[in-house]
Amino acid sequence: MDPLQIELFVLLPSVLHVSSCQVVRSTQKAWDSFVGVFERKEGAADSIYGAFFDAAPNLQGMFRAPRATMGLRILAGISQFVGSAHEPAQLRRHVEAIAFNHLDLDVTAPRVEIFREATMEVFDLELGALFGTRARFGLSAIMTYAGGAYIFARKEYAGRIRILLRSWNTAAKKGETVEQIEDLDSKSDDDEEEEEVAQEHVQADANLKSQDGTGKNPQLKVPTTFDEMFLFNAAVMGYANSTWMKFILEYFDPIVSNVANSYRLQEECDVLSLNLAKCKGDINLPEFKAVMLASLRSLVPKEWNSQHEVAWNWLWENVERLLRQQLGKPRAHQKALERFIGGLQQEHLTSYCRDQYKRFFQLAPSGQDFFKQSTTRLYFIAEKIVEMTVEMYRTPKKMVEELSGLGLRHVGYGVPTELFSPYVTSAVEVIRGMTTDDHTQTAFAWSLTLIAKIMVRTLVEGSTVVMQAINTNIEKNLKKAIAVAPRGKRAMELLNITVGTQSISPLYWAIESGSLVCAQAMIEDLLTIRADRDNYYFGADALFTRHPEVIKKLSSSAPSLLDPLLEGLIWRSRVISNGYRRVNCYCKHLMQDVDGNHHQALQWLVEYGNPVMISQFTVVLVADLMWTRLVAYHFLLGRCYFLFTLCLAVTSQSFLSIPSAMHRSETLEANIVVFICRVFLYLGSMCKILYTQIRSFVADCKSGAIDRTYYIPIPQYLFSLQSGGNFMLFWLLVGMCTTEPLWRCGAFSTTEDHIIFSTHCQSVLDDGTKRVYSMFSCLAILLYWTLLLDFSIFSMHISAYVLVFGRVLSEVALFIMALVFLVISYSTAIMALEHELLDFAETCLQHWGYWEDFGTWLLSLTQMSLAMFPQVYYQEFEKEANLLVVVIAFVLIVSVILVNLLVAQLNQAYQHVYTDMQGYARLNRASVIVTTLEGISAKRWARFLQGMKFDERLEFNEGDVGLPGGVQIMEPAATNIVTVDSIRRFGGSSAVAMPWPEEDDSMEDRRGSAEHLRGKPDWGCRAVAAMVGE
Ligand code: HEM
Repeated sequence: MDPLQIELFVLLPSVLHVSSCQVVRSTQKAWDSFVGVFERKEGAADSIYGAFFDAAPNLQGMFRAPRATMGLRILAGISQFVGSAHEPAQLRRHVEAIAFNHLDLDVTAPRVEIFREATMEVFDLELGALFGTRARFGLSAIMTYAGGAYIFARKEYAGRIRILLRSWNTAAKKGETVEQIEDLDSKSDDDEEEEEVAQEHVQADANLKSQDGTGKNPQLKVPTTFDEMFLFNAAVMGYANSTWMKFILEYFDPIVSNVANSYRLQEECDVLSLNLAKCKGDINLPEFKAVMLASLRSLVPKEWNSQHEVAWNWLWENVERLLRQQLGKPRAHQKALERFIGGLQQEHLTSYCRDQYKRFFQLAPSGQDFFKQSTTRLYFIAEKIVEMTVEMYRTPKKMVEELSGLGLRHVGYGVPTELFSPYVTSAVEVIRGMTTDDHTQTAFAWSLTLIAKIMVRTLVEGSTVVMQAINTNIEKNLKKAIAVAPRGKRAMELLNITVGTQSISPLYWAIESGSLVCAQAMIEDLLTIRADRDNYYFGADALFTRHPEVIKKLSSSAPSLLDPLLEGLIWRSRVISNGYRRVNCYCKHLMQDVDGNHHQALQWLVEYGNPVMISQFTVVLVADLMWTRLVAYHFLLGRCYFLFTLCLAVTSQSFLSIPSAMHRSETLEANIVVFICRVFLYLGSMCKILYTQIRSFVADCKSGAIDRTYYIPIPQYLFSLQSGGNFMLFWLLVGMCTTEPLWRCGAFSTTEDHIIFSTHCQSVLDDGTKRVYSMFSCLAILLYWTLLLDFSIFSMHISAYVLVFGRVLSEVALFIMALVFLVISYSTAIMALEHELLDFAETCLQHWGYWEDFGTWLLSLTQMSLAMFPQVYYQEFEKEANLLVVVIAFVLIVSVILVNLLVAQLNQAYQHVYTDMQGYARLNRASVIVTTLEGISAKRWARFLQGMKFDERLEFNEGDVGLPGGVQIMEPAATNIVTVDSIRRFGGSSAVAMPWPEEDDSMEDRRGSAEHLRGKPDWGCRAVAAMVGE
């Protein structure tokens, strides 16, 4: 390295500072003016990035992050340097921190010059004469200084870091290549030798693993990983009881892995120091070093040399230094903070919250744009943060995990990292005003700073361009953000961001934060089939693997996105052959879950209860395939028994039962059949219904599925038509069983008077039991037939008809109510009339055997309403003009108004439900599918899945074998008109790491116009029904 550069690295900050405060001031002013030229800081970032990028085309490969992110990072870095130029120590810290991030880049003096000149040019361009000599000198010096520092750090530490990472890779059995540092230096012969050794080592490991296929040999128990070896050595060296070593061991991997990142190293050591504070007994850090070195020597025996000793000693010295800064303090801090927070009254907390936000908004006015919630919510958050500072001392491990999640949520809130510093400052300042205790102040400040550090790291790691685009909720931004993603990772960039053990899904975030425009664009992007020469890319697998419950999520939080999702699973060919086109429907994930069991997607759609969604092509196909190939047979099998009992009931109660009035004689054969049928009904039907009812009742009680209707608790199962009907049938059968004439007539043997199993005897006739029995019997038969209605789901047309019938019943009920009201009111009104209708009374006596004012008029008026009143009776009324007028008024109201009103109501109700009736019928069938599926054996389900052949790739067009995971059907060409193939094909490189080439906008337009040509959904349903054989 150039000695001048080293000198510069060490001296320049002080030179700048001492020689000329004016230079620094001018530079800072020029920087502020430069950033101020642009409306948003993204503009300034883009301008600098553009200058760097264009200045050296051969260095463009170094810029691996997306333009927007990289530009902002560069801007933030230079901004930090310029901002701290007046404080040499701070400037050096900033430069050093960023220098560590440049260890894997080949920074050289000419390259530093290129970037420096590019910056000068862009400043000249934007500021012109405002960019004076002093500012130019200052900025140039800062850029040279930073560049020099990168080169210095690279030369100084890179070798050690490379050794550390490589030997750690071997010792920890990570099996990863140390790509990060591979290109730090050009490879020397020594390096190559080392590499060979490493490869041999890896080979040896592989051989070891292959012994039993898993790498584990339970008999030998030879320590193979660093942790195992460390614990083994610790036991041998007499430190078996030093539990604190295990804590360090737990954090050792992140410490070594982040050796090149000083900020992160500090963070890991801080968290570790909090964990160490939980250990009882003395902590002697050099003991750990001894065991660590011994373990490393045994695990990296071939490579180990003096350079390794130096490197690992250096690492441990640094770690020890960082740990010692905190060792012993956390416990005292925790106590002080607990005492302070425990003693705070609610009014103190409220005043803390108020002052803290006030101060924060003074320090960072832009913070107000983020905290838009109500004051109570803001105070709640501030109080929670105060609690978190103590919790950090109490349960550091748990808190770090929670903070990763919280940090990721802040990515979603779009919080800029620079606001964290003023936030912490404001909180610390307010706490300082509340207590004079040094311990408390330091404890709070240290804990909150650590919390903020972890959150900022998570925020930086999780702040992908996709998340930034989601915050804008603009489709174009999202498309731009995702366009730079490698084609192999495009789907996961939309579905997963992981930081530490926590992860967040950008898609779900978009849904939860209400960025539905972006969420729709994400779903459409995921479900767009793209292709290069080698591969097809389709995000359905990634989507359903990451979010198996996506249907449930969408139906509850964003139903408008269900259609794009389900529509995206269909591909229609543009090519027509013999009047048909191919349709591939990638419905695997709607049928089976990751474990191969049946998926709950259909159940969620049933629970969503939308007749339009259930009629969507993909859902119809899924439901119909399950129905025809699997469920219909089982459904029929389950109902065979019911059909059988219905036949028995009809035979014994209707065909072979002889009403006593008929006086037909009994026959022995008929009596035997009736006896068998009735006994079977009571044992086989009544007892079976009782069993299923008890089971459902217990299940509902256990799960708390009890609804209260008019304060009466009713188990939810009774709300289903089938179960409710069965419940009533059970009680009717109980009624039949208790009044059964068979038991009363008691003829269980044939005598001269009786035939065996007679149901006729005087005693049942005399006490009226027979009549009661026959009523029960009549109702039971009616109910049996009603329950048969669920067979209608075999045909959607009949099912829809039955549903419409059910839906318009409420209108008929209204009509009956009005009629009853009229009949009662007119009956009582007529009774109040003075009339002399003796003939009518006589006729009534003749026909009905009685004359009673109220009863007779109720019956007469009801008959008049139903046109059952004999014509001749009307003539009687002519003798009484008053009565005639009232009767005419009644008949007019009923037959002209009520009846016509009923017709109009039915008409309207029919039209209203007609559009949805097919959908409701489908919902009905889908719910039967869902319940029947539960009873289907795993074996039959597996056979069904096998028949679906989801593993086989489906052809797009002849010879073009595409993607697996769906079924192919042939659709009549006229059903949907497709003019453009929806698969987007791209030429050029087919490397998985390459992003897709930029898309032609006209393609979108053409797709859009093709959408217009898509047929009615109903046509699609009919097509599916025809195709699956209905
Ligand atoms: C040490 C720093 C911070 C901590 C520990 C912290 C913690 C929290 C917590 C616990 C919540 C509650 C809601 C949730 O769990 O998502 C929250 C919400 C939020 N924070 Fe922060 N925060 C910090 C800094 C900031 C800063 C600097 C900003 C921006 C100026 C910010 C903006 C927000 C916003 C917008 C919400 C959402 C509020 C809501 O909708 O309920 N936070 N934060």
